[in-house]
Amino acid sequence: MLLHGTDALKEAAATGRALPGFVAYNLETVQGITAAAEAAGRPVLIQAGSSPFKHAGREALMRLALDAAEHSGAHLGVHLDHSRDLDEITVCLEAGYTSVMVDGSHLPFAENIALTKEAVRRARDHGAWVEAELGAMAGDEDVSTDAVAQTAAMTDPRQAAEFVTATGVDALAVAVGNVHGFTKNPVHLDLRRLAAIHELVPVPLVLHGASGLPVEELHGVLARGVAKVNVNAELRRAYLEAVRGTLPSTLPGSDVVSLWAAGRDAVREAALEVIGRLSPHTEGATRDLDSAR
Ligand code: 13P
Repeated sequence: MLLHGTDALKEAAATGRALPGFVAYNLETVQGITAAAEAAGRPVLIQAGSSPFKHAGREALMRLALDAAEHSGAHLGVHLDHSRDLDEITVCLEAGYTSVMVDGSHLPFAENIALTKEAVRRARDHGAWVEAELGAMAGDEDVSTDAVAQTAAMTDPRQAAEFVTATGVDALAVAVGNVHGFTKNPVHLDLRRLAAIHELVPVPLVLHGASGLPVEELHGVLARGVAKVNVNAELRRAYLEAVRGTLPSTLPGSDVVSLWAAGRDAVREAALEVIGRLSPHTEGATRDLDSAR
């Protein structure tokens, strides 16, 4: 069923957990993410677009994600990730997306505020919530590039507070050393900066670039106001490794269905693992997840 509103986000913030935002590109990734949410019995966001629209087509991927969420017994939000385009945001809101991320992080401060305010205004008409970003994150959303975070581009706590007040946004993505994709060297987050942002900012915080983050760093962010965590590269890697392992046995019979099923099941397993990591205080979370396998 579709997960409307910010209650799950607020509940996560209040209990030291986080809502996972998993990026979906195609049928198998939507199915894998949905199956993981069903098995874990935890709310999850399917992040369908904006970058994945380039592969699947906007209409097709929107319909796929919304249909999966509406027909599932799990609580699934359908979220637009990293959109710079108000027209695209409007199309997704009209289609029934439960939340959108407007990404004005590349813009000067005042322009980021103006873009975000307009996205919030449009989202309110559709009962959807809005995530925005302040500070610039390193890395690429679709491919691991071994990028390195720049201190100068990190989110400033006071500016973050001003930004949230000026825009009325529901959640704020921050740059605190996090990087999109896997990196050669381990990522170390600026948890002091994150704590300062959390102290000044009244809305739940969002951490992008969580793939490959050591679990201690992850639990450090959950204790400092982060209530939504985005994961993409871990699911991509799981999908590709499963496909590579299955290809030799499926190639002779051109058995694409078995190949795609292996990718889908690997995404489910990887997503289940992440859900467990993001629910450290859930009684029996590990047991439930183990029995769901
Ligand atoms: P990763 O690239 O680390 O998986 O993070 C995904 C993300 O932040 C999507 O917005």
